[in-house]
Amino acid sequence: MTQNPGNSTDVIFVDLIAGARPNFMKIGPIIRAIESSNQTGAVPNIQYRLIHTGQHYDQKMSGDFFDQLNIPKPHLNLGVGSGTHAIQTGRIMKEYEAILSEGKKPDLCIVVGDVNSTMACALVAKKKGVKLAHVEGGLRSRNMEMPEEINRMVTDSISDFFFTTSREANDILRQEGHSDHKLFFVGNTMIDSLYQHLDQLIQPDIFKSNELNSGQYLLMTLHRPANVDDVDKLESILTTVHEASSPIRIVFPMHPRTQAIYRQLKPSFPRMIIADPMPYLQFIYLVKHAKGVITDSGGLTEETTVLGIPCLTLRKTTERPETVTIGTNEVIGQDIEVIQAYVHQMVKGDWKKGGIPDKWDGKTGKRIIEILRSLPLKTTES
Ligand code: UD1
Repeated sequence: MTQNPGNSTDVIFVDLIAGARPNFMKIGPIIRAIESSNQTGAVPNIQYRLIHTGQHYDQKMSGDFFDQLNIPKPHLNLGVGSGTHAIQTGRIMKEYEAILSEGKKPDLCIVVGDVNSTMACALVAKKKGVKLAHVEGGLRSRNMEMPEEINRMVTDSISDFFFTTSREANDILRQEGHSDHKLFFVGNTMIDSLYQHLDQLIQPDIFKSNELNSGQYLLMTLHRPANVDDVDKLESILTTVHEASSPIRIVFPMHPRTQAIYRQLKPSFPRMIIADPMPYLQFIYLVKHAKGVITDSGGLTEETTVLGIPCLTLRKTTERPETVTIGTNEVIGQDIEVIQAYVHQMVKGDWKKGGIPDKWDGKTGKRIIEILRSLPLKTTES
């Protein structure tokens, strides 16, 4: 950034927070929209400071995404790394508080999604008297066993402005007492990233080396503690998916958390192609060419919906219901017989045809920036 953070009406000074893999696809389009709108000479000019908390730090979980999504190098990296939730959240808070305590504070802090970095920086910004905007506010899985649900609820409870992916999210926020003038249904910045990169996808090496063909493999990702932290549970899910998907193969780029548990498993899965986490352009290539996707991610169900790829979510609830009511997603829990039945159906190609939710059109970053210019932003001293 940003040589002159200030509260002049000609300039808005914004902190953008990103910490973990799914944040990067959400923050990239916002940066792109800020830069292209500043180029038009629009007033007020928006100056931003990109802060990476360091929650994800591996090249494969972070660096590759910055490179491929053309996200500028962060102005600051808090370098917090891994730890228990309390340790990780606490470290982020301590580091971000120190930054806000030095020098001039921003007019607005923008947090995205639902990871620990989102909640930690939201708390700090708010307590420091910085206005707070939550991109992807109003999502609720109603499952308090998910740390992300707690992060969402805490963040939303203190946010001043909400940029939402659906009208239902606005309804939820209204029910929680937020007034209409704070709520902006703008669409989905993750889908902006998807559209911005669809013509740049890269076939990953494993595609050729395993002689994969388009439409003839399943893609799987699993990283939620509820599915992967217990070794027996993980084994039972993998055994079921492996058996039920015969004869086709399953490509499984594995999150480091899952890899750590997977190493303890005894059985092998000959039709399963295990890989490291993929860079964005390679991963979306695999999604686009898959017969179907099996996952416990939330963001991936949005991408499969837009790409029209059948998707099975191994969770009991979703905070993104439009991926089921409009899109190609089915949320089926972890019951083994149910998984079997749905995987059979997926392999047979017997799946609903989905549509694309309103405003998931690649223009969300632009909408956010247009609204941002008109927000009543005034920094108060804490
Ligand atoms: C976090 C988010 C989750 C998101 C996921 C995407 C929270 C509560 N969870 O979960 O919502 O879907 O990111 O990946 O914020 N690790 C590495 N290298 C890294 C990062 C992590 O090896 O760059 C390993 C560490 O062993 C770490 C573990 O992965 O302990 C888990 O990382 P952590 O950031 O705690 O949570 P995720 O499971 O990645």
